Amino acid sequence: MAGSITLTMIKPLAVQKGFTGPILAKIAEGGFKIIAMKYTRLSVNQARKFYEVHKDRPFYDSLVNSMTSGPIVAAILEKENAVQAWRDYIGATNPANAAPGTIRALYGTSLEANAVHGSDSDENAIIEGDFFFSKMERF
Ligand code: CMP
Repeated sequence: MAGSITLTMIKPLAVQKGFTGPILAKIAEGGFKIIAMKYTRLSVNQARKFYEVHKDRPFYDSLVNSMTSGPIVAAILEKENAVQAWRDYIGATNPANAAPGTIRALYGTSLEANAVHGSDSDENAIIEGDFFFSKMERF
């Protein structure tokens, strides 16, 4: 039976530091199936839209700025209970608090440049997956 989905992005600083390969390896190691993936760069308007739920937070402009600073890798991951499984696997939002061995502990630089994104609910995973991928781009 197919699992549920979550949306991840390998953030610009992690891409720039050469962590794309190691993070993709960790995705496979964790048993997540990549059903869609692209290498792209968000425009300011796209990043503002993607992070719209945070628009009133003090870190919004800075987050948009860092998320548009270079290319990202966006992917839809599938696994049983994908949203929670991925959040557990990547570790706490702030890499300083992320458990040893998690993706954010290994590859994160700061709260903002925390290596990877993870959807926070099944509903948002669907919205975020649709943000990046058409049906034809999913396998
Ligand atoms: P992400 O999973 O991409 O979702 C929202 C992002 O906001 C989060 O990772 C962090 O990189 C960023 N962020 C910056 N400051 C904060 C903060 N104080 N609390 C939560 N998230 C923050």
